Amino acid sequence: MRQIIVQFGGTGDLAQKKLYPAYFNLLKKGYDITIIALGRRYPDREAFLSNMEIAGDKEFLKQLDYVRYDMAESNGIEKLEQKIDTIIDCASEIELLYYIALQPSLYEEAIKQIKIIDSHISCSVSKKIVVEKPFGFDSGSAQRYNEVLSQAFADKEIYRIDHYLGKEFMQNLLIMRFHNDIIRSIWNNRTIESIQIIFDETHGVDQRLGFYEKIGVVRDTIQNHILQIVTYLTMSEPASFSPEDIATEKIKVLRSIKPIQEYRLGRYESLGAGTGQGVNTPTYAALKLHVNTFYFAGIPIYIRTGKMQEKAVSQIYVKFKNTTKTVMNDSEIMENGVIINIHPELTIDISMNLKEPNTSWKSKSVKFRFNHSDTFGVNTPEAYEQIVEKILQSDKSLFPSMREILESWRIVDPMLHDTQDLEIYPAQSLPKFAKEMMEKDNMTWFA
Ligand code: BG6
Repeated sequence: MRQIIVQFGGTGDLAQKKLYPAYFNLLKKGYDITIIALGRRYPDREAFLSNMEIAGDKEFLKQLDYVRYDMAESNGIEKLEQKIDTIIDCASEIELLYYIALQPSLYEEAIKQIKIIDSHISCSVSKKIVVEKPFGFDSGSAQRYNEVLSQAFADKEIYRIDHYLGKEFMQNLLIMRFHNDIIRSIWNNRTIESIQIIFDETHGVDQRLGFYEKIGVVRDTIQNHILQIVTYLTMSEPASFSPEDIATEKIKVLRSIKPIQEYRLGRYESLGAGTGQGVNTPTYAALKLHVNTFYFAGIPIYIRTGKMQEKAVSQIYVKFKNTTKTVMNDSEIMENGVIINIHPELTIDISMNLKEPNTSWKSKSVKFRFNHSDTFGVNTPEAYEQIVEKILQSDKSLFPSMREILESWRIVDPMLHDTQDLEIYPAQSLPKFAKEMMEKDNMTWFA
């Protein structure tokens, strides 16, 4: 079947860096796809191709078309309809995939225009709609967008994106937890003391300032990527790995989390320097939450994430209780831990205490390491490629459900309406509040 992707936000950063490379690889894999990129920036296809740095061979570029599309202009819809008409051959099987990668404030209008375009298509085609995160600005807007969406598309045609679900480490979390008896029996509040989730990025907002200043760190990564990680770390085993069964367990986790009360927000000093933009936009957050389910209640989950840090760290640290120290009356015995490193490559370490040579019953903490690329090679597809492939295959297993999205907005709501001054932090430094939050609990960050 031929699949035509109508790419809203076709000249944006996401399309350029993630989506076009994914489409290119999928075309090489044999998918019959054609892309119509939409954007305001370039007058025609020639200008689009010569200005955007798009990796791909001749075959791919042949399948990449462009329409200058301004949602505010009255002839946009007509131009796009004409383009679709020239591509569609009513005699063959066709699917139209509308992919919205825009500022959330434009979603409602985009969906309305898609509805009109869709109703004018003369032959019978199947259709899907793909919507990037964040889905809305808050619970209210997410609900509203969903109503508009549901008037034009059936739920099975709607794909809400969180590209973290396409990441190998995320899928591996479920396999590690649910395909290993030894892990299952220790993965609960009888043995786990605390969990840390650290996602530090070295880059700033850069050319995404226009988008990011309306979003900030809470909507950009906490409401989606981070809370999805929390669900994968703490959900109970699903009845199967079907999308419905996984969603059922994730929703239980999200529903058990109270709106976040312990958090602090900051912004890096040079954000929007010279433009006056973004002064109230948080780019860093530290927070603590609890999953109040039977097996996880009482385990503090410490999270820090944001931009302009000294080192890129993507790490999950599960720290186990250390009763042995007391039992053996030896304060030097280290706790056990599971350390999942996502960046620069996926490794999973389990730390244990073993005998240090030439000592009398002295132990040392050592790590047992799984290295993904050593074991499986380096050819794991990028998250966006996995996600888009699932969409092409009509497989909904890697997409958050609407209920998850709404629960996630409820959880971050206090952070969205925060009125405290943002702490300003210099580039390459951890905001002070992140350290203070841990010190208050007698804890230190693992990285
Ligand atoms: C995106 C955010 O969803 O995720 C970005 O909008 C962030 O701000 C990015 O940098 C991180 O994703 P990854 O795949 O680089 O870990």
